[in-house]
Amino acid sequence: MEKYKNVTVLDHPLIRHKLAIIRSKDTDTKQFREIIKELAMLMAYESFKEVPTQVIEVETPLEKTTQTVVKENSIAIVPILRAGLGMVDGILSLFPAAKVGHIGLCRNEETLEPEEYYCKLPPNIEEKVVMVIDPMLATGGSAVDAINKLKERGCKKIKFLSIIAAPQGVDKVAKAHPDVEIYVSTLDRTLNEHGYILPGLGDAGDRIFGTK
Ligand code: PRP
Ligand code: URA
Repeated sequence: MEKYKNVTVLDHPLIRHKLAIIRSKDTDTKQFREIIKELAMLMAYESFKEVPTQVIEVETPLEKTTQTVVKENSIAIVPILRAGLGMVDGILSLFPAAKVGHIGLCRNEETLEPEEYYCKLPPNIEEKVVMVIDPMLATGGSAVDAINKLKERGCKKIKFLSIIAAPQGVDKVAKAHPDVEIYVSTLDRTLNEHGYILPGLGDAGDRIFGTK
């Protein structure tokens, strides 16, 4: 989004293809889950062009060499429960050693305000690059709250990854947290009167877990 320096819309033909599938009301739970995972992996790949690295020595069958690898203990993933859980495995497939924290937030269906019901974060999270993940960024209330919580814990380097975003949510997070890098796969049109993204994909949590 050109309006904000900290917002990137990851526009890629593969991402668009997968989005078309998960938007369809005819896509079943199994395929929905698989594609959320794949999209999360693609988004992590695209959003981590600058990864903390360290140099190690490697011995090939022919000689010793120095190589660059992802720095140990440098990355934490924090899914916003429950729908964020659907993105965890995709990101762990790229960063298998990442620590995982959880923040449980549920939108109150009348006020649309997030209510916290769980928080468990890895030790020393403040020293890591933290990737907050949630497939849907609607009003932005959940994302802003989750990031506030992480900043209260001392986190300084935070990225927020969301598959589908509404302009209202992007505005709110980008303004509240201009230091946070925000990556979305697509920017949808708007929200309806119940705070659902249009065209969106419906309720991501229900579609990942098959609860409706
Ligand atoms: C959804 C979604 C986000 C939130 C986005 O979660 O996964 O966390 O809504 O809305 P917002 O930007 O307006 O805050 P929901 O509260 O439905 O909980 P769930 O993941 O348990 O289904
Ligand atoms: N949460 C969802 O799961 N979907 C929306 O469209 C908005 C919030």
